[in-house]
Amino acid sequence: MCGIVAYVGNRRAFPILIKGLQRLEYRGYDSAGVGLINNNKIITYKQAGKVSDLLEHVGDRDISGSIGIAHTRWATHGPPNQINSHPHSSSDGRFSLIHNGIIENYASLKKVLENKGHHFKSDTDSEVLMHLIEDVYNNSLNGVEDKEDNRLFKAIRIALNEIIGAYAIIVIEEGNKDEFYAARKGSPLVIGVGNNEYFVASDASPIIEYTNKVIYLKDGEVASLNKNKDVVIKTIDNKKQSPYIEELEQSLESIEKGGFDHFMLKEIFEQPKSIVDTMRGRINPKTNEIILGGIKDHESRILAADRIIIIACGTSWHAALIGEYLIEDLARINVEVEYASEFRYKNPILTNNDIVIAISQSGETADTLAALEIAKESGALTLGICNVAGSSITRETSGGTYTHAGPEIGVASTKAFTAQVTVLTLFALRFSQLRKTVERENYNFLIKELTAVPGKIEKLLALNDNIEKIAKVFKDASNFLYLGRGFNFPVALEGALKLKEISYIHAEGYPAAEMKHGPIALIDDEMPIVVIATRKENYEKIVSNIQEVKARGGKLIAIVTEGDTEVKEIADYCIEIPKCFREIAPLLTIIPLQLLSYHIALMRGCNVDQPRNLAKSVTVE
Ligand code: G6P
Repeated sequence: MCGIVAYVGNRRAFPILIKGLQRLEYRGYDSAGVGLINNNKIITYKQAGKVSDLLEHVGDRDISGSIGIAHTRWATHGPPNQINSHPHSSSDGRFSLIHNGIIENYASLKKVLENKGHHFKSDTDSEVLMHLIEDVYNNSLNGVEDKEDNRLFKAIRIALNEIIGAYAIIVIEEGNKDEFYAARKGSPLVIGVGNNEYFVASDASPIIEYTNKVIYLKDGEVASLNKNKDVVIKTIDNKKQSPYIEELEQSLESIEKGGFDHFMLKEIFEQPKSIVDTMRGRINPKTNEIILGGIKDHESRILAADRIIIIACGTSWHAALIGEYLIEDLARINVEVEYASEFRYKNPILTNNDIVIAISQSGETADTLAALEIAKESGALTLGICNVAGSSITRETSGGTYTHAGPEIGVASTKAFTAQVTVLTLFALRFSQLRKTVERENYNFLIKELTAVPGKIEKLLALNDNIEKIAKVFKDASNFLYLGRGFNFPVALEGALKLKEISYIHAEGYPAAEMKHGPIALIDDEMPIVVIATRKENYEKIVSNIQEVKARGGKLIAIVTEGDTEVKEIADYCIEIPKCFREIAPLLTIIPLQLLSYHIALMRGCNVDQPRNLAKSVTVE
């Protein structure tokens, strides 16, 4: 939530900052702002709305300066107006700060500062942090320690010791056009190292155009970034750290639309490739053996495990549910799937014979991270399934597997979901071999089925125009019901989530048999019902459910297996998926549902990539 960018060097900062904000807009897009140092003075422009509104607001005003900070906001404290937008300045305007995260003790700090005479303009916790730094700077420093430790660097570290909560911050100082300071705890921050220039951002996307050398700041670290000097990193308790410079593997093309109208559509169409990338190097083509480097060292614990608990949020939670079906069915290990936000507060029962798997596209979701902490404390083995390399969850787990889906920019998750399900299928198959629960012949069939998925998705994507036609028929509906059974039940949940996220149509996913325990009351001839009725997955049972819907006048859109005749006779519209094993079906049945949501949202004039009120990376509780 919230995206931050900063630049110091010899180029014009403004275009770099704006481009960076546009790349980070998926993180928050209700207001934006920029702060530049020009003629030794800090100049601030802020505006409610998107980055494009900020640009309009700046118009032809002065944007010179080769140092600056910028922020795109997802409001937490106070509405998304100009005053609450970042940057926030100190009382005397000498310092300016951008912040991503939440200061949990901001109310008590605010009171203390108000008693000392501070006045606040905004409702934000971030302004409180700015004033706290200013207060320490003015009142609590006993001189500077050494040349690397100027007064502001020190004030920031001292102030951050008083903070409870999460932050990624950058602070600039009037009169200092060579240097700024960056710190993080709990919220992501990447430093790009160029030649006599530094870039800082919430993720690498604003940076890769300029340099592939990056430093991932660790929790509790503060960096001083002076364009004429090497990076200096200290912990908030004043311990000097050696910066570790890594090379970025991401490419610029991977974060651009590449001819598609929207990132979401691009990411849906990328799935044949992203699934290949997820599997790459992980299945031995000669022996079919699955090799997962990140869990290899833990296989003896997996073999002995009593239980697997999967924690996740949102779409990742739906992938986790499919994981439950897969691992229980193939590896015969008891699996429990938990919402991370519930798990962290429910006093869970855990032992060191449990395995806890955290699934997260971003690797930064606050609830998933907090749930993981609890799991770690209990002694359970913790594994991660994440898309973003170097993200917090990947660092907090003992092992795990990257999904390698490439950057996902559309707020509604698509390719990350299928990559997560692919990894979970690999996990289930690998565990099945460790525990000898699936016969070799069947295992080989399943591997064949899995590797055939990308080709089958290509076939499904060719149905895009037909799906667009179906979308046209239902675009004005106010409610949708999604039904599925077995492996396709979580797909029904995910299909409904996709629709509500981007089209704002109310949609519910249900196990098909549960329909008669409530949702059936909603069905009338206005109500579209999407039923996933692929072959072999309780097919006869779901046909009965379809009959029940039809008898009440509901409009049926069915996802069926090619060659189906029975459902075709009853349903109003059918979308055929290629034949496959039931374990593999979710990777195919979700594709038409993603496309259906996309087209309906587009026809309703919604912002597909940046749906209202949502953000891609939820780093607040
Ligand atoms: C947000 C996003 C969803 C995502 C969820 C969990 O709500 O909008 O698309 O599924 O967070 O995010 P994670 O990064 O942990 O998978």
